[in-house]
Amino acid sequence: MSNITPESLVSYWDYEDGNDIITADSFDSDSAYEDGGYLIKPLPDRPVEDLTLLSHERENVCKYENGRRYHRYHEGQYAFPNDNQELERMELHHHISTLAFGGKLHFSPITTGEGDHSPILDLGFGSGIWAASMAETYPHSQVIGVDLSWTEPLWCPPNCRFEVDDCEHDWLYKKDYFELVHIRYLSGSIRDWDRLFQQAYRHTRPGGWIELQESDIELYCDDNTLPPDSILLEWFVLMNKAATASERPFIKTQLFKSWLERACYVDVKDKLFKVPINQWPKDKKMKEIGRYETLNVAEGLEGWSMALFTRVLGWEKDDVLVYLEKIKKEFRNRKVHAYWSL
Ligand SMILES: C[S@@+](CC[C@H](N)C(=O)[O-])C[C@H]1O[C@@H](n2cnc3c(N)ncnc32)[C@H](O)[C@@H]1O
Repeated sequence: MSNITPESLVSYWDYEDGNDIITADSFDSDSAYEDGGYLIKPLPDRPVEDLTLLSHERENVCKYENGRRYHRYHEGQYAFPNDNQELERMELHHHISTLAFGGKLHFSPITTGEGDHSPILDLGFGSGIWAASMAETYPHSQVIGVDLSWTEPLWCPPNCRFEVDDCEHDWLYKKDYFELVHIRYLSGSIRDWDRLFQQAYRHTRPGGWIELQESDIELYCDDNTLPPDSILLEWFVLMNKAATASERPFIKTQLFKSWLERACYVDVKDKLFKVPINQWPKDKKMKEIGRYETLNVAEGLEGWSMALFTRVLGWEKDDVLVYLEKIKKEFRNRKVHAYWSL
């Protein structure tokens, strides 16, 4: 095999921090569903409907279905929308992730910027906010974002560029090229992770890094306030069933370590972060993350569910919408002390 040994990092698993039990707030006087309003500043509007393209070209790169916009390049491969609502939600999710990560954009100890200007690759750049933030942080490095959809990022430093491509196809980059290959929230979108990791390995320079920031598509709860017959758990079962049937299952994050090792990466580490589903925790920072997460779910639920439920499970749009209202309400229930793991 190759004589290069890029070290790798799924992200560190910090057993002490990540496994701390989150204490619930007692919310002595108010209703369990009352969320106290969102403390969210409105996100800036995108100046145009995403695409600096003539309208007939837009028709060719997008597809509208059940009121949402989807990618057309390699149509059907990614089951979630690429419209403004979803892009703004991704930016909110970026904020939640960086809050959870203590302000960090990455954990890999990259050396780029210290005389080494090997580029950084972001697979599935989404709104482009991570790639643009990295380019701003490392002004001497080139940051390249790749996505099935072309979206007009809100801002783009000169050392950042975006490309439309399918990261599951053969990569045309040079061998031993990147300092860091970054993957965030691609679970449920990739058919062949082994092949993706092999390609990433091949195009990473010796001593370079791969970093995954992924979430389990299931809920965790340490105090039995999430009953086994919760409608929330039913929604997760349906989502996993549909994603598996469409051959892009959501992956249990603990599996990635052995998959990366299979692709010859060494020094693979995990770190666990908890994201409460709403503002149920007592701790101020956790409560803030939970408050943002309430909005993330409210904005994201329809987009995450609609195509999988209608295309794969055969539901009607209106039935999905009615069902999701119940799910949304339960996500806001502060008596349920549940969290996602990142
Ligand atoms: C859930 S979004 C995450 C976006 C971004 N990584 C973030 O964390 O904000 C997943 C993104 O991956 C893109 N994507 C999915 N499958 C892809 C593929 N095979 N090749 C390139 N991009 C892909 C989607 O178009 C979408 O923008």
